[in-house]
Amino acid sequence: MTVLSCKNIISMEDLTPDDIVAILDTAESFKEVNERRIKKLPTLRGRTIINLFLEPSTRTRTSFEIAAKRLSADAINMAGSASATVKGESLRDTAKTLSAMACDLIVVRHKYAGAPQVLAESMDACVVNGGDGMHQHPTQALLDLFTMRRHVGDLAGKTVGIVGDIAHSRVAGSLVPALRMVGAHPIVIGPPTLMPARPDVLGADVAYTLDEVIEELDIVYTLRIQMERAEGMPFPSLREYARFYGMNEARLNRMKPEGIVMHPGPMNRGVEVSSAVADSERSVVLDQVNAGVAVRMAIMYLLLGGEAHGDAA
Ligand code: NCD
Repeated sequence: MTVLSCKNIISMEDLTPDDIVAILDTAESFKEVNERRIKKLPTLRGRTIINLFLEPSTRTRTSFEIAAKRLSADAINMAGSASATVKGESLRDTAKTLSAMACDLIVVRHKYAGAPQVLAESMDACVVNGGDGMHQHPTQALLDLFTMRRHVGDLAGKTVGIVGDIAHSRVAGSLVPALRMVGAHPIVIGPPTLMPARPDVLGADVAYTLDEVIEELDIVYTLRIQMERAEGMPFPSLREYARFYGMNEARLNRMKPEGIVMHPGPMNRGVEVSSAVADSERSVVLDQVNAGVAVRMAIMYLLLGGEAHGDAA
């Protein structure tokens, strides 16, 4: 079977372009499994997967849990307030404790960038980053590539505008390198107050208004303003932000005719995207959520080396 070149997925840089293709292609077959009446495969029976979520999450944690269960792994969820970290245990000790229980894969979400790396250095289990601070969120980027590929075909040469809070977004942190690895052209778009100090080092083109690039875009990827990470209000008002950076029907009509609109969720309707656009046929937000389960199944399967799954049900 195909195997990945890495043991952990902490940032997009852990993966090669071949790994990305392997994950997306494997996810296609799991997507088909997810459409069956009986959605469970015996592939990872007897393997243990721990979801260690030390920061709030609805869709990512649920998606990893469903993915593990559909592959018959034993999935255990540990939330921040229920774990020993609130009693002062260090991340390294948490890692050693989980290692001693002989689990096979840990998914970790943490408010500090670099926490998944610390865990990975202290344990034999595979580590998958479910979002670390303002750093990266690689499984989100992979499910986004999967969704983009299904809607606009080959991504080489396609232009993707990533709009909003570039400075604080780990989604942008993974999506920019992911798009470059598949030959697409990312443009990060936002007010200067929501841009990192050196946006050029991201490896994307930079635009400070959406209107100057909207006609070029095959995909508009809108981001939530990470109020929990921004200091003060980075623009005069939410209304002002929506006027210049919100994806609305007028801007949708100026995009390429086949262009699509994406959002990782949770979405603030009326701010980064209008309700009319969010609910339009060109919004693929729910397809992203649907892809999340198949892509995470593929990642677990490829990291843990499950058996052939094609005909099992
Ligand atoms: C994102 C996250 O947590 O980084 N959400 C997600 O995983 N779907 C984006 C966000 O919170 O804005």
